[in-house]
Amino acid sequence: MPASTQPDVMDKLVSLSKRRGFIFQSSEIYGGTGSVWDYGPLGVELKKNIKDQWWKSMVRMRDDVEGLDAAILMHPRTWEASGHVAGFTDPLVDCKTCKGRFRADKLEDARCPQKPSKRPGEAEQCQLTEPRMFNLMFRTFMGPVEESASTVYLRPETAQGIFVNFLNVQQSTRQKVPFGIAQIGKAFRNEITPGNFIFRTREFEQMEMQFFVEPGTDMTWFEFWKAERMRWHQSLGLSPDRLNFHAHAGTELAHYARAAFDIEYDFGGTLGFQEIEGIHNRGDFDLSRHQEFSNKKLEYFDQPNNKRFLPYVIETSVGADRTTLAALVNAYREETVEGEDEGRTVLRLHHALAPIKAAVFALTKKEGMPDMAHRIAGDLRHHFPVDYDETGSIGKRYRRQDEVGTPYCITVDTESVKDGTVTVRDRDTLKQDRIGADAVRGYLQERLPA
Ligand code: GAP
Repeated sequence: MPASTQPDVMDKLVSLSKRRGFIFQSSEIYGGTGSVWDYGPLGVELKKNIKDQWWKSMVRMRDDVEGLDAAILMHPRTWEASGHVAGFTDPLVDCKTCKGRFRADKLEDARCPQKPSKRPGEAEQCQLTEPRMFNLMFRTFMGPVEESASTVYLRPETAQGIFVNFLNVQQSTRQKVPFGIAQIGKAFRNEITPGNFIFRTREFEQMEMQFFVEPGTDMTWFEFWKAERMRWHQSLGLSPDRLNFHAHAGTELAHYARAAFDIEYDFGGTLGFQEIEGIHNRGDFDLSRHQEFSNKKLEYFDQPNNKRFLPYVIETSVGADRTTLAALVNAYREETVEGEDEGRTVLRLHHALAPIKAAVFALTKKEGMPDMAHRIAGDLRHHFPVDYDETGSIGKRYRRQDEVGTPYCITVDTESVKDGTVTVRDRDTLKQDRIGADAVRGYLQERLPA
């Protein structure tokens, strides 16, 4: 894949994320856990906003999609039926010289750790083993005895919790096909080559929706969901020119898929366009396999037409962490500011995603300014996540908020105490409005999404 024309901001984001409390290396004081990350105070808000927006558009705003929260630990037969025990493998090669491990099918994207200008296997000293298949599922034990009968897996995708609950949800909600089931939850994959910050990790969150349809109508629904999901990414501010569809051809298709497209985002630098979401036509692969392995009928009864059938499934599957990374990359800017020597770093996050919606400043700690600013912040807190700050120069405080993407800053100054007005500064236009303190909430409510 050719390098992107967009800048590589990954190292800058890793550093900003740690400094400002978005994302930390997991278990950092012990030297870190490989490719596992913790979300700090601002990161947890950002990722939660992404998950809330997904839930709102996929479940709350639709009467044909129901929500679910299935357990991570499932009956081990689930993963035999799904094909994961036999087939969820990547070909692994080891280098006997540098002890590096690489995916045999992705060697062209990898670098020799000892000679980064070469690919693994290309340098003179490389000694690659023959590829061996490596199952990506994490195994653990249910109950106190470590015996094979109690082996369970950490789910590698949330989708299977939806398939096994298909009839439970359909019958309890009296939904008629076509309808969908959506859930957000953790998934685990023992990736051979994780990396690129939170792009590919071993523990991550998925937002998945399975839409059950009558066979024959599947490609129409496939096209519907493809368009709908692209619209969602754009609605949250991802630049249209950094998004595209990638069609899976023949050998790229997963074992369950009749058709598949990825939505890709251009992360910049050498990473370039990469998958953030998969849209798959899974046919009746999953329901028929679960029917076979469980010996339970999973057919849908179409009462008006008096017929039974196994629905086909259109799946939309997006990573919450990957979307968080795309949102951060998309928002990151280094800008010059007119009339100021120092430029600014700003996260131009969509207002719906910004972790803090407004910051309230007291210009100085005197003349009743902090009291008034605290009162305003206290009122706004009932409605939005708000930050209060009274330290450092006002310029520095603006910069701190720009860097974490806060859309509005409200300043209480000497005049405020006299006439009850405050300034509201817009992150993107840098324009300042002077308005009555009692009008601040309405002003923000008009400009921030509900
Ligand atoms: N149920 C289908 C499924 O899981 P997938 O393409 O393997 O499909 C869907 O995964 C999405 O989950 C990806 O587009 C990506 O956003 C996210 N994802 C998958 N593996 C990941 C990993 N190791 N780290 C972070 N996100 C991952």
